[in-house]
Amino acid sequence: MIVAISPAEVSKTSTATNRCVQQRLPRVAGVRDTSDTVLVSECGLTLPLDVDRFCSPPTRPERRFLRKLHGPVLDVGCGPGRAAAYLRGRHVPALGVDSSEGLVHLARTNGALCVHQSVFDPVPFEGRWHEILLLDGNIGIGGDPERLLERLRGVARPNGRLFVEVAPIGPTRRLTVREHVGSDVGEPFPWAVVSMRGLDEMIAGSGWRCEEVHRVEDRLIVQLERMM
Ligand SMILES: C[S@@+](CC[C@H](N)C(=O)[O-])C[C@H]1O[C@@H](n2cnc3c(N)ncnc32)[C@H](O)[C@@H]1O
Repeated sequence: MIVAISPAEVSKTSTATNRCVQQRLPRVAGVRDTSDTVLVSECGLTLPLDVDRFCSPPTRPERRFLRKLHGPVLDVGCGPGRAAAYLRGRHVPALGVDSSEGLVHLARTNGALCVHQSVFDPVPFEGRWHEILLLDGNIGIGGDPERLLERLRGVARPNGRLFVEVAPIGPTRRLTVREHVGSDVGEPFPWAVVSMRGLDEMIAGSGWRCEEVHRVEDRLIVQLERMM
């Protein structure tokens, strides 16, 4: 598969991005503690963001999971491109998509093919993707998980698969959050948290059906299949 990508300007769009860049270039910028990056909702709910993991190569259990994929893979909200770069390194056709220009630049630096855009805008090879990733809670993108599931139904090919990482327990929440990094606070944006049970309820009548659940260390990734 050939994916044309135009060059992007380097722009650091979030504090977490800056931290990823610093971690990747420790001798240039110095390594900083990334453990204090969280999303905080308007009502004070705190959701940790594992920026250290996002900026590291896939762990052995993650690699074991990624090796199940044959491609073409679309990694939605790919961040620094760890999954897309790993897959590409294994000659699996994989493309990342991310709305953060800085993270797209970083993903490309890390060896991933990646486009800078929202998943809600038309993506390359729309309707032809065999496997789509929504890892790291990315089912929360846009704050409306049903809309995202519907959107990705149009992105996947018939019988295509969608891998959704869910929260093991708890209710489904639609939130407005801000990124906090130490004392730095970002702009508000919509986000959602979806549990296993929440996803189960959501897919009824959605055109997706559950095929399998993968456990990757303490994380749960639900494999959905696009019904015809
Ligand atoms: C929790 S992080 C995911 C990190 C990534 N999966 C990784 O392994 O590093 C969420 C990502 O979704 C991206 N994002 C948010 N809204 C988006 C949208 N509408 N379309 C595409 N990407 C989006 C953010 O820029 C961010 O990189």
